[in-house]
Amino acid sequence: MKLAFILDPLEHLKPWKDSSVAMLRAAQARGHETFAVMRPALAWRAGAVRAACARLSLRDDHRDWFAAQAPREMALTDFDAVLMRQDPPFDMEYVAATWLLERAEGEGARVFNAARALRDHSEKLSILEFPQFIPDTLVAREPEALQAFIDEMGDAIFKPVDGMGGAGVFRVTRSDPNRNVIVETLTDNGARTIVAQRFLPGIAQGDKRILLIGGKVVPWALARIPKPGETRGNLATGGTGVAQPLTARDREIGETLAPLLAARGVLLAGIDVIGDCLTEINVTSPTCFVEIAQQSGFDVAGMFMDALERECRK
Ligand SMILES: Nc1ncnc2c1ncn2[C@@H]1O[C@H](COP(=O)(O)OP(=O)(O)O)[C@@H](O)[C@H]1O
Ligand SMILES: [Mg+2]
Repeated sequence: MKLAFILDPLEHLKPWKDSSVAMLRAAQARGHETFAVMRPALAWRAGAVRAACARLSLRDDHRDWFAAQAPREMALTDFDAVLMRQDPPFDMEYVAATWLLERAEGEGARVFNAARALRDHSEKLSILEFPQFIPDTLVAREPEALQAFIDEMGDAIFKPVDGMGGAGVFRVTRSDPNRNVIVETLTDNGARTIVAQRFLPGIAQGDKRILLIGGKVVPWALARIPKPGETRGNLATGGTGVAQPLTARDREIGETLAPLLAARGVLLAGIDVIGDCLTEINVTSPTCFVEIAQQSGFDVAGMFMDALERECRK
C-alpha cells in the first residue's frame, strides 16, 4: 500500500519512542510505501486536496532515523490511506485541516482517523456519552458553578477542554488559597468552558492509557505514574510508564467504547482510565505504542497495521 502520514516536523519526533515512527517502521517492514506530509503543505487547488509528499525510508539508527526524497505534489487520492497524526492544539487550524481532509474523503481518499470523527469528537468532553464510567464531572464556564463544585467535592481537578500532555491541569481543594484565581484564569473570567472533575486518588497507581485499535482493545495498559510531587501522570510531565495487563474494569470500559468508536471511523483511540474511571478519550494522535510493546512484548504497531490493512481492503 501507499500510505501518507500527516505529521509534525520530522526533526521534532523522538524516533526511539514516537508512536507515529513505530507505525512508519511497521508499515515499511510489511513492504508498504510511506510518505510524509507536512500540515502546512495541505491545500485544495485545481479540483483536489493535494500536498507536497516526501517518500520516506527508515533506518534503525535513532540519531539518523529517516531519509526523505525530494517532496513532490500528489493528490491525497493517490494514496491507499492517509493517516492524520498531528498533535493538538485543537484550534481553528486543526478544524480547517479536518475540513480539507473531509473534502479529500469526498474525492475518494481514505483518512484515519476519519476527518469528521476527528472534528466532532472532543478529547475531554466525549466521555460524557458514557456517564456510567466517569467520575463526578462538571463542564461549565460560570465561576459560581465551578466554585460550588470545589465545595461539593472538596478536592477537584480542573482542566481546559483543548489541552494535552497535562497542560493547564490544576488540582484545587476547598481550602486552596488560590482557588478563585485558578477559576478566573482557566475560564478567562467566565468566558471559556472548562472541565472540573472529582480528584481520583487512584492516580497514585497511575493514569492508565488503554489503546483501542480497529474496534478491539489492546490487552496491555500503560500506567503513567506521576513523579513525586507532581499531580499529573502524563509522560510529558515526567510520569513513568509501566505496562500492566488490563483489569476487568479496564476491559469493560475498553470493550464498550471500542466498537462504537470504530463505527465512527476512529481506527485508533487512546483512552485514559484512573482507578475505575474513564477520564479522557484521545483521538488526534494517541501514543504509548512503543512503551507498551517494549515492556509487554505485545506488537501494538503490528495490530495497528493489521487493522489499517483490513480497513483499506473494505
Ligand atoms: N479526575 C482526575 N483525578 C485525578 N487526577 C486527574 C484527573 N483528571 C486528570 N488528572 C491528572 O491530570 C493528568 C492529565 O489529565 P487528562 O485529562 O488526561 O488531560 P491531558 O489531555 O492533558 O492528558 C492525568 O494524567 C492525571 O494525572
Ligand atoms: Mg491524558
